[in-house]
Parts: sequence; structure tokens; C-alpha cells
Amino acid sequence: MSTTALTGIGLLVTNDPSLGSGPLGEIPDAALVVEWERVVWVGPSSRVPDADQRVDAGGRCVLPGFVDSHAHLVFAGDRSAEFAARMAGESYAAGGIRTTVAATRSSADEQLSANIARLVGEMRRQGTTTFEIKSGYGLTVNDEKRSLALAKEFTEETTFLGAHVIPEEFTGRSDDYVELVAGRMLEACRPYARWVDVFCERGAFDADQSRAVLAAGAAAGLGVRVHANQLGPGPGVQLACELGAASADHCTHLTDADVTALADSGVVATLLPGAEFSTRSSYPDARRLLDAGVTVALATDCNPGSSYTSSIPFCIALAVREMRMTPAEAVWAATAGGARALRRQDVGVLNLGSRADLVILATPHYVHLAYRPGVPLVADVWMSR
Ligand code: NIG
Ligand code: FE
Repeated sequence: MSTTALTGIGLLVTNDPSLGSGPLGEIPDAALVVEWERVVWVGPSSRVPDADQRVDAGGRCVLPGFVDSHAHLVFAGDRSAEFAARMAGESYAAGGIRTTVAATRSSADEQLSANIARLVGEMRRQGTTTFEIKSGYGLTVNDEKRSLALAKEFTEETTFLGAHVIPEEFTGRSDDYVELVAGRMLEACRPYARWVDVFCERGAFDADQSRAVLAAGAAAGLGVRVHANQLGPGPGVQLACELGAASADHCTHLTDADVTALADSGVVATLLPGAEFSTRSSYPDARRLLDAGVTVALATDCNPGSSYTSSIPFCIALAVREMRMTPAEAVWAATAGGARALRRQDVGVLNLGSRADLVILATPHYVHLAYRPGVPLVADVWMSR
């Protein structure tokens, strides 16, 4: 099998503290060797073994490919007018989700697929090599099923979000909708999904309804993740901890008890600063979570309503500038943190046996991701599949 050595790496982020300094396991003047889709050697450039091909990184910084653990990519339409209205003073209402549901239902598979492909292309060009995709803009048995079937063409990390919002036709009958989601809809979606998620929020699903859907998903063999405490305080985080979820996402409005529960349970807090940017709301307090020992991930929440960005570098810049994360913490959260949120050990890290998914920055240090916001700093992306 042919091997490729990437040499002349000015600074390598491995995210493996046994390989280098600090929590990012940083190695200056590094090299790594890739065989097929895996990393087979990591170390100082001076000791790199022979390989069939050599590629020179030219002194630039190399890091694990970004892991975007939260994205809603199966949709049609655009809500730029809603965004403009918000910037003129309107507030965000999750009810806007229904606009996208209508557009999605009336779109052909080919249109939906082309839109996913466009967004996945954007993500890759910005360094994302592993990404999750949720359903949640279909909200009928067939539309959720086809959303997940289309998503599965692009990623293994597919999430059933039938409980995104109560669809129009179930207005006033939310318990009937929950019964459908936890019953026939889950059954139809199960073969295409790895995860189940619920938007547990005032105006969407309450604690009992969320628990019913998540427990049914878990009983069907799906991993659990929860949209929790985004728009206000609520039961989502506690529910995620109670059910042993992989991740509680958003975590914008937390009590001390919520922070303690996250720290004690090991549930990852996935922060999505693109949503606060785009809804002009206060950012989650990452510092408070980190200081309490909570594992933090960063993701885009890419969706046409509350966060229409596919850019992890943008989220890193926001996390550093607005959420008091250090550049190293933000880079870790967008790589190893995202991998933890997806319970993956083969990505978000560059060590022996990990996937050869990596980003070559156009700069010598990862701090530039926050220091030079909005600048396309991803020079190259290696993807193992
Ligand atoms: O994660 N919170 C719920 N779902 C999305 C918003 C979706 C939308 O507005 O279309 C989110 O922010
Ligand atoms: Fe979301």
C-alpha cells in the first residue's frame, strides 16, 4: 500500500497530549505519514521515515479536520428576509422553521440533494472533514424518511429530528404529533439514522414530550442528542444528562445546576455561536462551562433560519472573541470536542491509526483562525474518504 509523508509542518496539532505539548499535543517542525486512509506515523520532521511520496507543508500549521457535530442541511428555500427583519429589530421565533418545512416538502429529492452537496462543498473548503446532518424540515413520515435517506448519502452521522417543531397541521394536537414521531415516523427513519434529537424548548417540545421521543429513539438503538436551553432556561440539559445523551446543544441559558449536571454526567456541551450571531442574542458562557470541567464542542448549526453559516473558522473566531475561549480551547472544541460529541475516536485527532483527515492552514499558527477572521485560511484539506 502506498504511503505519503507530509513534511515541513511548522506546527502540528495532534490533540494527543502524549505526542506533544499542551492539551493540543502540539509538535513544532513535525511530519506525519499516511497510508491509505490512516495516519501511520507522527513525529519530528527530522525523524520522518521513508515514504512513497513526500509533500512539503512549507512551515505551515496542520490540524485535524474540523468535526461539525451539529448541522441542518436538508432543506429548501432561503430566509434572508427574516434575517434582515431581525437585524432591523424583530426577534427570532422558532416558528420560522415552518416556512422552511413548507419549502422542503414541496421540493424534489434532486433539489434537496443538490443543496446538501453545495453546503457540504462549502464545509470542506473551510476545513470540515466530518459532519452531522439532521432531518427536521420534513415533519411527515415520508419527508423525514427521505430527508435522512438523502443525508445518509453524504455522512454516517445522521440525526432524526422529527421533533423539531409542531407542524402546522398538528396545531393544538401536539401530543398526537409526539405519538407519531415516537411511533411510525421513528420506525420509518430508524434505518437511516444514527442519532435522535429533539428541540426541547418553550414553543417546541416540553420535557415529557421530549423524553418520550428520545426514549423511543434510544430503545430503537439510536444515540441521543438534544437541542437544549437555546432560547431560554428549560429542562433540556437536565433531560440530556438524565438520558446519558452524547451532547446537549446550544446551552445558552444555564443554571448552576445545569452546569454541574453537565460536568458530572460527561455530556458534551455543544456551543453554536453562529446562532447567537444570526439571532443577535447573548452568547453562551463558554468560560463558565470550561472552568466547571465540562467538555465543550463547537459546531455551526448550519440552517437557513438561525445560523446560515457553514464555516467552522467563523465559529472559532466568534468563540474566541465573544465567548472568552482561548484560541487553543476553540480549536480543540471544533476538532476533538466535536468528535466527543459524536462519540468518535478516529477523527478530531492525528495519531497512530486515526483517520488521515487534516487541514493545512495558509498560516504558521492556528491562532490566526481567530486573529484573521473572515479570511480564507484553509490552504488544503486531506480527506480519508
Ligand atoms: O438549531 N433550534 C432549532 N433549530 C434550529 C433553528 C432552525 C430554524 O430556525 O430553521 C437551531 O437553531
Ligand atoms: Fe440546531
